[in-house]
Amino acid sequence: MCGIVGYLGKRNAYPVLIKGLKRLEYRGYDSAGVALLTKDGNLQVYKTKGKVSDLETYAADKDTTGTVGIAHTRWATHGEPNSTNAHPHISYMGNLAIIHNGIIENYAVLKKQLQEHGIEFKSNTDTEVLVQLIEYVRTKRETDLLTAVRIALRSVIGAYAIAILDKNDPDQIIAARKSSPLVVGIGEEEFFLGSDASPIIEYTDKVIYLDDKDIAVIRRGEEVEVVDFNNEKMEHEVTTVELNLAQIEKGGFPHFMLKEIFEQPECLKDCMRGRVNVEANNVTLSAIIDNRKHLINPRRIIIVACGTSWHAGLIGKQLIEDFCQIPVEVEYASEFRYSKPVINEQDVVIAISQSGETADTLAAIELAKSKGAFIYGICNAIGSSISRATNTGSYIHVGPEIGVASTKAFTGQVTVLTMLALALGKERGTIDNLRYTRVLEALNEVPEKMEQLLTQGDTIKDISRIFTYAHNFLYLGRGYNYPVALEGALKLKEISYIHAEGYPAAEMKHGPIALIDDEMPVVVVATKNVLYDKVVSNIQEIKARKARVIAIVSEGDETICKMADSVIELPHTEECLEPLLASIPLQMLAYYIAVAKGKDVDQPRNLAKSVTVE
Ligand code: AGP
Ligand code: GLU
Repeated sequence: MCGIVGYLGKRNAYPVLIKGLKRLEYRGYDSAGVALLTKDGNLQVYKTKGKVSDLETYAADKDTTGTVGIAHTRWATHGEPNSTNAHPHISYMGNLAIIHNGIIENYAVLKKQLQEHGIEFKSNTDTEVLVQLIEYVRTKRETDLLTAVRIALRSVIGAYAIAILDKNDPDQIIAARKSSPLVVGIGEEEFFLGSDASPIIEYTDKVIYLDDKDIAVIRRGEEVEVVDFNNEKMEHEVTTVELNLAQIEKGGFPHFMLKEIFEQPECLKDCMRGRVNVEANNVTLSAIIDNRKHLINPRRIIIVACGTSWHAGLIGKQLIEDFCQIPVEVEYASEFRYSKPVINEQDVVIAISQSGETADTLAAIELAKSKGAFIYGICNAIGSSISRATNTGSYIHVGPEIGVASTKAFTGQVTVLTMLALALGKERGTIDNLRYTRVLEALNEVPEKMEQLLTQGDTIKDISRIFTYAHNFLYLGRGYNYPVALEGALKLKEISYIHAEGYPAAEMKHGPIALIDDEMPVVVVATKNVLYDKVVSNIQEIKARKARVIAIVSEGDETICKMADSVIELPHTEECLEPLLASIPLQMLAYYIAVAKGKDVDQPRNLAKSVTVE
């Protein structure tokens, strides 16, 4: 959560910081602030509740000179979103400004100790403790800022990415991280800081990804130095980022979410490129080739993830059990991390995460690692914490996902899981050749079929207009399409704030049917597969109670067309690949309903893209 930007160099820092905050606004957007060392040598802090544009308005008539500064867009954890709690926070002597992403878990104890030394706090945030503690250590020990940061961080428990500016040193920014991401960009005589590389790539493609417990000292005219809490020098590779501006801009679409929905055919081609080879009848994942001994014969597989990635995991379970005959469990990372799992080195844990920064998923990985399990990551963000914490993995390669509601990452994750299940199944000899070839060919055709589906945008828009009145929605599906129902419901609630529940269709009669009346829209994924007749019966039961049915059916279906109020047809594909197609109209339905209701689709209330706190 929260976006961090920093700049030190030859340009005016303020425009770089504001632009950077806008690129990171998807990470948090309840308040924003900036600290600058102006050309007159003043430490100026401007902050306000609201979005980055509100900050711009607020700072419009203020002194925004200076070539060094730090900036923040917040997702509040401690203290309501207002201008006092917004970052940067200033130390009691007025010398230091800090921005922070994360949670300081022992902030209450530290705050009490500092208050006992007469230090007054202005905000309700946990963050302010950090800046007061660092200032206190520096003054008490009469030491330099780096030493004070090192000493202070030793007594801090929690997660943080921080950047600190010192009023008396316009040539330095100090940054540090533990469990929250931080990237340093290296340009010509200038340096950048970002929660990810997106605010940096406009200026340089050379970056250093900081590791846990790294402290980076960024000094004008010098090389970036990275040390640990004991002042030991840490070696760091300067990496070249392969990200371009077009990937992080809207490209003519009104929202990132719509752009990302429409990008899916191309994204899946990128995801399969070099991996799926129809002519050779083969799927290659380098992670499997390199780690055969761990992956081919595990006792079982445990998938850990959150939210949409967890839904992809549920589909992964079905694919792996179906093709590989390996037992699979799917766990919420947040629950797994505090459980007492019976797990050992014969188990493989697959961690799925778009951002690669989700705190719960990272903690689940650490727990599984400590028990000796082999960890396979499925991530989108290159170089992210999860991609580095895992033993091996496969990137989904769908490009940056900026809309808070995940779309292309979901289909990318399901595609990687399909390739993984196919490749493992073949190696294990648990999938017959004919089926392997059929699924492989059908997978290769998915992007084309998605294109076809995306042309139904206007029909879905028309359907969505009918349902903006609803306060509740039910989503039903079975088998491979049950997780699709869960995902469809999550999309709708995230961006339209309509309450929506996903259920396996047959479970309806065990409770949710009580909710059904003539006001309740029910979305049913009812494709022609083995459970088709049973789902048709469910639709009868729903219609008998006068609810409105929106059915996602296989092309040419005549039975359901006569029963449902609205119908969206899917091109035919293998049953196990239906989620890749069926999720598209559900993404669009949620999108158009939210737009019709006037909601902020890309930045829905209370959410953030990258959940780096517990
Ligand atoms: C998806 O629409 C959500 N915003 C959310 O559930 C998300 O999938 C979850 O927070 C996990 O994120 P990750 O994939 O980056 O780990
Ligand atoms: N915990 C801090 C706060 O509430 C930082 C939150 C964030 O990461 O934006 O201010």
